[in-house]
Amino acid sequence: MSKKTILTGITTTGIPHIGNYLGAIKPAIQASEDPGFNSFFFLADYHALIKCHDPERVAESTRAIAATWLALGLDTDKATFYRQTDIPEIPELTWILTCQTSKGLMNRAHAYKASVDANRDAGKEDLDDGITMGLFSYPILMAADILMFNADIIPVGKDQVQHIEMARDIAGRFNHQFEPLLRLPEAQVDEETQLIPGLDGRKMSKSYDNTIPLFVEPDELYRLIKLIKTDSKGPGEPKDPDLSTLFQLYRCFATPAETAQMRKAFEEGIAWGDAKKNLFEYIDSVLSGPRLRYKELMADLGYVEEVLLKGAEKARSVASDNLQKVRIASGIRPLTYVTPQQQTSVEKKEKSAEELERMEAGRQRAILMKLQPLLDQVAQAEDKEAEAKAVLLAKQAEVEGLKKKARQKAQNELDLLQQELSQWL
Ligand code: TRP
Repeated sequence: MSKKTILTGITTTGIPHIGNYLGAIKPAIQASEDPGFNSFFFLADYHALIKCHDPERVAESTRAIAATWLALGLDTDKATFYRQTDIPEIPELTWILTCQTSKGLMNRAHAYKASVDANRDAGKEDLDDGITMGLFSYPILMAADILMFNADIIPVGKDQVQHIEMARDIAGRFNHQFEPLLRLPEAQVDEETQLIPGLDGRKMSKSYDNTIPLFVEPDELYRLIKLIKTDSKGPGEPKDPDLSTLFQLYRCFATPAETAQMRKAFEEGIAWGDAKKNLFEYIDSVLSGPRLRYKELMADLGYVEEVLLKGAEKARSVASDNLQKVRIASGIRPLTYVTPQQQTSVEKKEKSAEELERMEAGRQRAILMKLQPLLDQVAQAEDKEAEAKAVLLAKQAEVEGLKKKARQKAQNELDLLQQELSQWL
């Protein structure tokens, strides 16, 4: 069986936080170590332009996210790691797919609908106020990201599942209209990593402003952890680990055995201060190595750029092959291109010449078969004629013989008569 392809992208509008690490980057890197998968990971910087019109922020985020993947140990020989805007095949495919996507499908996209709803709630007369075509058709760009590489599995957050379904719809429409070239992707949602809480206990997310940036300095990390909400239970009072953000975060990093031990500590009334200190020390020990590497990479962006360009080359070798097929299927072709169908119809014509020859031979055979009895009759008659001739010849010979004998007899009689006569004379 051929390898499955796993693909995911991160929009370059922010600085990676612990939620991105646990929910997306860490599991993706793990999957890329599995030889049973092909993996494609990319910086979705075209997507950044949809939401963010601050160029410095987009550029800085792109640097930070690139360096983060590498600092966390992504092996770019195993995974194809690239920047979306280095792959010109993606916007081209986006256009071809745009022409196959019904506007109604885009009207139903959550991100667009949320903006329309916000305008309605704000009492705006124009419900599309402030909504760009980029936001409106964003699911098509995302479909192109995925379909470009015939990806099978797309690890995403719940909020992105609809986009994967739209990618399937769009691929299905293309395949039906032209040729079945595009593989239908599947979303993979890891329920566990949906639960990574932020500082306030809600899901860790940029939009809630409750994140812990991944590579902050240790004292800043500790300061943020100290901000995590707890209740007023004092030291020694049993605490419910399942209601504690501290415990939930701890368990995202620790082994099952360590987690069980921490659970026990909670039930035995660990002081909040100690729980925070434990969490800080654990996270810091996991992240201190990658943090150092991250700093080195951010000070050597020429190297990171090189890694990305190499990745783009790898990605483009796949993308350009696929795009070529898509172009041809949809009619974008060199003027001299001959479709396989046209090719076979020429072959058919050639074949029919051969076939004509065969038919002619058959026709002749059929005539021969009808003729044969007549020919046989002629032959029989000829045989009889020959036989009769032979009989006639034999009779003639017999008659000749008889005639000869009679002549001989007459001659003999004559001779005898002459002898007798000569005696008398
Ligand atoms: N839209 C995704 C997000 O905001 C990022 C993204 C862009 C993506 N293209 C993708 C994710 C393709 C998976 C596959 O999270």
